[in-house]
This record gives sequence, C-alpha cells and structure tokens, in this order.
Amino acid sequence: MWKGRFKEDTSALVQDYTCSVEIDKKFYLEDIEGSKAHVKMLAKQKIISEEDARKILEGLEKVKREIEDGKFEWKKELEDVHMNIENRLTEIIGEVGKKVHTARSRNDQVVLDFRLYISKNLKKWQKKLLSLIEELIKKAENHIEVILPGFTHLQPAQPISLAHYLLAYVFMFKRDVERIEDALKRIEVSPLGACALAGTTHNIDPLCVAKELGFPKVFENSIDAVSDRDFVMESIFVGACVMMHISRMCEDFIIWSNPYFGFLILPDKFATGSSIMPQKKNPDILELTRGKAGRVYGNLINIMTILKGLSLTYNRDLQEDKFPFMDTDETLSSSLEVLIEFIKEVKFNKKKMEELLKVGFINATELADYLVKKGISFRDAHFITGRIVAYCEELGKGLEDLSVSEMKKFCPLIEEDVYEYLDYKKSVMRRISLGGTGFDRIKEQIEYAKKWIHKKNGGSV
Ligand code: ARG
Repeated sequence: MWKGRFKEDTSALVQDYTCSVEIDKKFYLEDIEGSKAHVKMLAKQKIISEEDARKILEGLEKVKREIEDGKFEWKKELEDVHMNIENRLTEIIGEVGKKVHTARSRNDQVVLDFRLYISKNLKKWQKKLLSLIEELIKKAENHIEVILPGFTHLQPAQPISLAHYLLAYVFMFKRDVERIEDALKRIEVSPLGACALAGTTHNIDPLCVAKELGFPKVFENSIDAVSDRDFVMESIFVGACVMMHISRMCEDFIIWSNPYFGFLILPDKFATGSSIMPQKKNPDILELTRGKAGRVYGNLINIMTILKGLSLTYNRDLQEDKFPFMDTDETLSSSLEVLIEFIKEVKFNKKKMEELLKVGFINATELADYLVKKGISFRDAHFITGRIVAYCEELGKGLEDLSVSEMKKFCPLIEEDVYEYLDYKKSVMRRISLGGTGFDRIKEQIEYAKKWIHKKNGGSV
C-alpha cells in the first residue's frame, strides 16, 4: 500500500513481526459493515459517485461471501484485516475499489471495527449472564426453606436460607449486566471520520455513519478518537469483575463439595476422578474456572500497561490491544457456559446442611437478641451468651440442649420461651429486615430479580 514511498520491500522477518491478520481477521464482518456505512456516506455527500458506491458495496458483499465460504486467501504481506479486504475488493471490482479508503485511515477504521466487535461480544456476555442469573433464581426458588450455616471468616456465624445465599450471586451478576450496559454507552461511539488524526478536508458526515452502524454517538475530538482505547480497558475490567464473581462462587462450591461439609453434590458430569485414589471426586471444573480469573486479570494489566505513557495519537503499540480482549472474551464465554450447565445440574444436600447447623453455636446471636428483648443491654447480653457458649463447649452440648434451669444460672430472666429463639429455622424466619434471610424477604428478592430479568429479556413489566 505504501510502495510509492519505498525503494525496497519489507523484509520477511518484519512482515511476520508486524502482521496482525491472524487475530484481527476475527472482525472481518465489522470491517465490511464499517466500509459499507462509510461508502454510503461518501456517496450521500457526493464525495464519490452513486455508481462507484454501488460497485464497492457489491464488491464488499462478494469479499464477505468468499471469507464465509472459506475461499478467501488471507495474506500476511497485507498486514491486517483492513488491507486484506481492501486489496481483495480492488482485485474483484478493479480500480474503483481503491476509492473505499477516501476520507478514512486505518487508524479510525481499526477503532471502529474493534468497537463494533466489542459491542457485539459484550452483548453476548450479557445474554450468558442473564441465563446464569435465571438458573440461580430457579435454584433459589426451590430452596427457600433449606437452612444452612452462614459464615463470616469462614467460621460458623448465623443460620441462613440457601435461597438467600444463591440470591447473593444473582445480585452480583445483575450488577455485571448493568456494568456492561453502562460501558456500552462509551463503547458504541463511532470514530470514523477522525481519519489519521486531524480530521479531513472532505465534506464527510460522521454522524450518518454512526447511525448506519447503530451507534448512538460519534467522536468529539479526532485526536482522542484514534488514540482512545479506554473502551478496551473498560470491557476487560468488566470481564475481570465477572470472573472475580465467578471465582468466588466456585470457591464456595469447592468448599461445599468437600465431604467434611458435604453441602453440595458434584454432578458426575462435572466432576473428575483421580488416577491413583479410587474414592476421589474432584471439582476440577470449578477450580479451573476460579483459576481463569487470574488470566483475565492478567489481560487487564496487559492493556493498562500498553496504554500507560503512550503519546498521542496512534502508535503501533495499539495493535497489541486485540489479544487481551479476545482472550478475555474466550475465557469469560466458556466459563459462563460451563457454569450455567453446572448450576442446572448441581444438587444440594439438605440433610448435611441441617446437621452442621448444630456445629459452632450459630444460634448464639439469637440468644443475645432474646436477652435484649428481656430488657438487657446488647453488650451485657453478648457477655452472658458468651459465658453460656463456653459452658456448652465444655459439656459438648448445643445451646438448645441446655435446660432452662441451667441457663437461669447465667441469667435469671431466661424462660421457657427461649427455645423458640434457639430454633434454627425460626431464627431464619425472624430475620425479616430489609434484604434479610427471612422467607418473606427472600420471596421479595426473587420477585424483584424475576421482574428485572423479564424486563432485560425484552418483556414488559
Ligand atoms: N493493524 C493495525 C492495528 O491493529 C491497524 C492500524 C494500523 N495503522 C497504522 N497507522 N499503521 O492497530
């Protein structure tokens, strides 16, 4: 493309080193869509003739078909997707093909393609997240009255409903869906018309190109338009955040699948065995997914480092922005797919959860709250309960196993009604404060989440 200026051909070594076609050919469709929108605008603005535009549009369609039929020959010496497509276009329709690059530079073209590509893929992430949320809601609906010990510091804390727990993930992933929505506002901005960096002397209409491509906004400043890769960084950050949420869920499920807990029964389809220990059922899928979060964090650091200290405007460093996004996209998509299936298949062991309620005095807060209701300050109630717990620990008993007379030794205000408070299920049911684990509150959370997802799926409320 730049033969005019050079006397010698580029060395093969340099060609290999600078070529990006292996990765950017993934957005051939966006490149063609972008070129079509650009050409239509050029004709509308009378920068090229209607006739030329028609020929180019037809030619682009042919190129697209060749690529999709696997007949297109990608050439390394043509560096990237943009030059490969333009070159083939000219081969097919002749000299007029060269007019496609009027009032355009690869600098704005690559940003446009990448923005279109990222926008499409982030919408796919959203869909997958919505499916995952739907599965979690279904599981929550079926486990409202299943009680298990909740932890803080991974130590027994208070009884909670399993549905409440699963809903926590629903609300985490809901934020991710919303984060994508918000990022899209900054991703769906058309840079076409910024040209190399300074705009153009041609009478272009960038807004028309943006509209044609379904982007609501157009760039404000041509220098920024070709330099900006915030949208890549932000997308990877959103991906990293999803992976972080996923990894926390995996970690919980890994712990729960350990037979010492036994809360979760690993579906055979999603478990792996050991080559030496015949009894083993390992949660490799969950571990791998947890591990992949690290890979996406790496991608985030990668793009942030590429951008740091980079002078304006386009520098070839920016070609390196594709890998971290593509890798994030693949990692995230496959992780979400596996996880959706896992949630569909997973079973919980209610009996084990109930058995473990009795370990670690998780009804102690209830006893303290009971004493508060009897008129004692919370601090004193905390102290008295602490002493009763220590007493029980020595005897190897639970709080609910003590007689009223035994408890009265610690506080004479304790009466028969204390057992109501020490009951695990009732303790859950009583937590009806906002967003709490009380069954009615859980039903509200489920209703809210279902309405939200219905709306996201395009339904009316
Ligand atoms: N392959 C390049 C990239 O991915 C396209 C833009 C090239 N622009 C240039 N001025 N060399 O960034």
